[in-house]
Amino acid sequence: MVHAIQFHEPGGPEVMKWEEVEVGDPGPGEIRVKQTAAGLNFIDIYLRSGARPVPMPNGLGLEGAGEIVAVGGGVTDLAVGDRIGYADLPLGAYAEERVMPAKIAVKLPDDISDEQAAGMMLKGMTVQFLIKSCFKVEKGSTVLWHAAAGGVGLIACQWLNHLGVNVIGTVGNAEKGELAKAHGCNHVINYNEEDFVERVKEVTDGAGVPVVYDSVGKDTLRGSMQCLQRRGYLITFGNASGAPEPVAPGELSEHGSIYLARPMLFDFIAEREELLACAGDLFDVVSSGAVKIEINQTYPLSETVQAHKDLVARKTTGSTILMA
Ligand SMILES: NC(=O)c1ccc[n+]([C@@H]2O[C@H](COP(=O)([O-])OP(=O)(O)OC[C@H]3O[C@@H](n4cnc5c(N)ncnc54)[C@H](OP(=O)(O)O)[C@@H]3O)[C@@H](O)[C@H]2O)c1
Repeated sequence: MVHAIQFHEPGGPEVMKWEEVEVGDPGPGEIRVKQTAAGLNFIDIYLRSGARPVPMPNGLGLEGAGEIVAVGGGVTDLAVGDRIGYADLPLGAYAEERVMPAKIAVKLPDDISDEQAAGMMLKGMTVQFLIKSCFKVEKGSTVLWHAAAGGVGLIACQWLNHLGVNVIGTVGNAEKGELAKAHGCNHVINYNEEDFVERVKEVTDGAGVPVVYDSVGKDTLRGSMQCLQRRGYLITFGNASGAPEPVAPGELSEHGSIYLARPMLFDFIAEREELLACAGDLFDVVSSGAVKIEINQTYPLSETVQAHKDLVARKTTGSTILMA
């Protein structure tokens, strides 16, 4: 038996229980992994709270890293002893050990630690597909990125800066602003104190930006539309403040024939080759030092309840990992 977080009904952080579970042997196409750490992600909040319903009871967590301790039939490219990282369904990363599909696991290069992998596989691959596939950013252009000091945000600031893109980032307080700046964010806006639409217009001399990456949702989406240039792209990829009011197609034309996308990482890494290319690109920028994975909070897995409380209360910055 090993320990894992389970929840038997959706609700507040307290529904998560640290329980003994049977793991078993991996079946065909599966691996058993002894985990070093799991990553904490905002999507875990939507899943735990019921905002995104899942079958009950269930495990939680989509991101982790560790060592393969058993391999099922038909798995040819991974072996016992390999260190791997992953970010995908099925749920169950908040566990000391787990069985999972081999097709979502990626072998870790020697210079990427398990802790780094747990802090970046989901967040870093999200940045990769958002800036290179969903919308291809261009050197010299300016983008608006909301929640710039968060887990996804700090990776985005560094990666965009590395690509020669100017970043306007929003944050909830001055300390987070300093952090975002130190990670390559060129213009910081405290959206709790300033009107971010006005500030974006000021910074861009009235032109607006070609793309807004909005993971805050309810509180920012309408303002984000107003920050766009004609034919700009609004990439709404999360709802940290809640689900926004629905957008009528006519609103897109009113704002200058803008485009609206609501992408999910899992649709960009569904094929094995896509996953390996996306993860490989992430490993390269981290290995080169262009992007640092800032693990600013570490909790034991048994204290996941507190970790969730802190993430929801906007107390965290950068990546948070849960140690097995
Ligand atoms: N679509 C995808 O495939 C995909 C994949 C990964 C992540 N995401 C999304 O990306 C976003 C960032 O994820 P993350 O795990 O890195 O989280 P995070 O950015 O570390 O945490 C969320 C941040 O959102 C900001 N925020 C604004 N309003 C909030 C509110 N009412 N309650 C709580 N936070 C609020 C806070 O920063 P401030 O205090 O600075 O405002 C908070 O720190 C999430 O929305 C997540 O769902 C989407």
